[in-house]
This record gives sequence, structure tokens and C-alpha cells, in this order.
Amino acid sequence: MTILVTGSAGFIGANFVLDWLAQNDEPVVSLDKLTYASNLENLRSLEDDARHTFVRGDIGDAALVAELLTTHRPRAILNFAAESHVDRSILGPEDFIQTNVVGTFRLLEAVRSYYGSMSENEASTFRFLHVSTDEVYGSLAPADPAFSEQNRYEPNSPYSATKAASDHLVRAYHQTYGLPVLTTNCSNNYGPYHFPEKLIPLVIHNALAGKSLPIYGDGQQIRDWLYVKDHCSAIRRVLEVGKVGETYNVGGWNEKANLDVVNALCAILDDEQPRADGKRYADQITYVKDRPGHDRRYAIDASKLERELGWKPAETFETGIRKTVRWYLDNQAWVSNVTSGAYRDWLNRQYQ
Ligand code: NAD
Ligand code: TYD
Repeated sequence: MTILVTGSAGFIGANFVLDWLAQNDEPVVSLDKLTYASNLENLRSLEDDARHTFVRGDIGDAALVAELLTTHRPRAILNFAAESHVDRSILGPEDFIQTNVVGTFRLLEAVRSYYGSMSENEASTFRFLHVSTDEVYGSLAPADPAFSEQNRYEPNSPYSATKAASDHLVRAYHQTYGLPVLTTNCSNNYGPYHFPEKLIPLVIHNALAGKSLPIYGDGQQIRDWLYVKDHCSAIRRVLEVGKVGETYNVGGWNEKANLDVVNALCAILDDEQPRADGKRYADQITYVKDRPGHDRRYAIDASKLERELGWKPAETFETGIRKTVRWYLDNQAWVSNVTSGAYRDWLNRQYQ
């Protein structure tokens, strides 16, 4: 038995593979294109681990994916591969269309053909699990109930529009071709190996580097934060007992305004690694131009996952965020490695 994980050198994919192999011996074949967002360092601890096979490649490369499927005959495929940064999708949507839409389509085609080649026994347990986001549901007003699986798709950024398109393709391959799919729509993740252009790792990195902490607009936009390892445990649960064809919302009931998140990070840093000049990290907060089309509020109703599959997050925001800050403090070498020249070019373009 083997599973295939795409996007395995990125933030959530790497956490998933590491957790998977820490918990059982079922081998993992992992496929990643190694874009700017990836880092093979994330998987370094598995370098000599016979249970892990890393392949560099594109989910849109039909020949490569077909060969991987024929060679390894995975009993499940978990699709994490995506272009994932909203701000990058605003500056250049093309890569998002290519990977999130065309890439997912090509992957589904390869999987459809592979599924057709299976024995009845293999086919009965095979699963294709597509990892998606709450951003497909659009933006909530302050008093709206949290997103349930019944909410309409109303994506507002090129990123969320391409993820929505991929979710629809996955659904269609189930309805039309009978592919045994599962889809998860998760809220914002945070934790180890998070690329430092997303809010939480960016703020930790900038704070320690004595740089400004950029808050878009008024900082009152709300995100619903989930510790990445809780997302991974939810995916394992859905893979194990999720009902084929269903979608499951994943979230930690942790709605926070961005400014509150940044202040919480500053307070932990004040505690764990006080500034040399005795001032507070929060003094580094700077308000910058808002993101165009910035969604005001996301909130996930994860009660279906809890009720039907018995999943609950292990971390609160308070425990998870402290672990995260500790991880970044203990892994400064990882941060220096990823904050390469290309990363600095991006920051210059984004924040002038
Ligand atoms: P990430 O950007 O950190 O990692 C994505 C990985 O996919 C990278 O390693 C990249 O090299 C790889 N990749 C990109 N294009 C590829 C292609 N064409 N073929 C193969 N590999 C490719 O993203 P992440 O935060 O780890 O997100 C993983 C998945 O989870 C995405 O599908 C994302 O939409 C979804 N998601 C993310 C969050 C979040 O808060 N980060 C929340 C909900 C859902
Ligand atoms: P981000 O981590 O990019 O995730 P997403 O846009 O997918 O939710 O951003 C989280 C929130 O933080 C979002 O409302 C945008 C905001 N933000 C800032 O205020 N400043 C920043 O420098 C960044 C990167 C994000």
C-alpha cells in the first residue's frame, strides 16, 4: 500500500508527509514541481528513509503522472499542489490558472485512466482527496453564520477562483466518471515550514529582523486560524472514513482580526526574545495600502466533520501560535535559507 502526495515540499504538504510517516509505515511517493514556495529542506529528515520517494515534477505533466501511477499503484492520492498566495495571484494570475485549473484537470485525467485500470478490489478502496480552501466561499459580513458546506461558491481573488474551478472539476469527475473523490475546504493554516510571505511567518521574520510589520488597510479583516497539524489530522480522518463524493469544511473555531494576530505574535516575541533596545515589537506595526478585493471575513463551520467523522482540533490558537513562534525561533537557519534573493525581489515588488 502506498499513497501519492502532490505539493509535498510546500507548507501543508510537507507537514502532512512528516506526520504521516511519524504515525505509520505506509510508504509515500511525493510529487512537487519545486516552485518558489517549496523547500526540500522541509523533507530533509526523510532523505534516507526508504518509505519516502520524492519526485520532482508537475501535476500537469500527464506522462510523468501516468508513469508514477503505473509504477507505484497508490491506493490514495492527496492533492496539495497549488499556487497558493492571494497577493501573487493578484499580480500574476497565469500560474494559478496553469497549476490550479489546468494542472488539476490533467491530474484528474491521469487518475481517471488509472482508476479504469484497477481491479474491482483496488477500485473499491481507492480515494482521490483534493485539498481546498474556505476562500472559495467568498467573504462574510460581521453577523453572517460561518461557512458551511452548503454555502454558495463566490470566490473573489484569482487564487480563490482557480481553487473553486479545481473543486468543481473534482466534483464533476465524481458525478460523471464515478471517481471516488473527497474534498476538504480548510481555513487559514499556520505552523512550522510556513513560507515567510504569508502573514504569520512574515510578521515573525520581520519583527526579529527589526523591519516593519505591514498591516493591510485597517487590520480588521478576520481569518479563522488552524494549526497546520490539526489540518493534517483532519485530512487523515477524511481519507480514512470520509464518505465518497462529500466535501468537508475544516476549521478551528479561531476567528481573529489580523491586527489581533499581529499583536499576539508581538506579545509572544516580547516574552520569548525581547528586543535589545527594550522596546515592544508592536512598535514596528505599520499600516500599508489594502489588498484589492480584500475579503473581509472568513469563518468555517466545521461541525459536519466533527459530527460525522469525530474530528476535533488538538490546539487552541493560544497553544498553536506559541508553538509556531518557538519553531521559528529554533529554526532561524531554515528561515535564512528560504529568504533568498528571489524572496527579497518579491518583497520589494509587493511593499515597494
Ligand atoms: P504552498 O504554496 O506552501 O505549497 C504548494 C506546493 O505545491 C509547493 O511545494 C509547490 O512547489 C507545489 N506546486 C505548485 N505547483 C505545482 C505543480 N504544478 N505541480 C506540482 N507541484 C506544484 O501551499 P500550502 O499552503 O502548503 O497549501 C497546500 C494546499 O492547501 C493548496 O492546495 C492550498 O490551496 C490549500 N490550502 C492552504 C491553506 C493555507 O492556509 N496555507 C488553507 C486552506 C487550503
Ligand atoms: P495571508 O497570510 O496572505 O493569507 P490569505 O490572504 O490567504 O488569508 O493573509 C492573511 C491576512 O493577513 C489577510 O487578510 C491579508 C493580511 N495581510 C496583511 O495585513 N499584511 C501582510 O503583509 C500580509 C502578507 C497579509
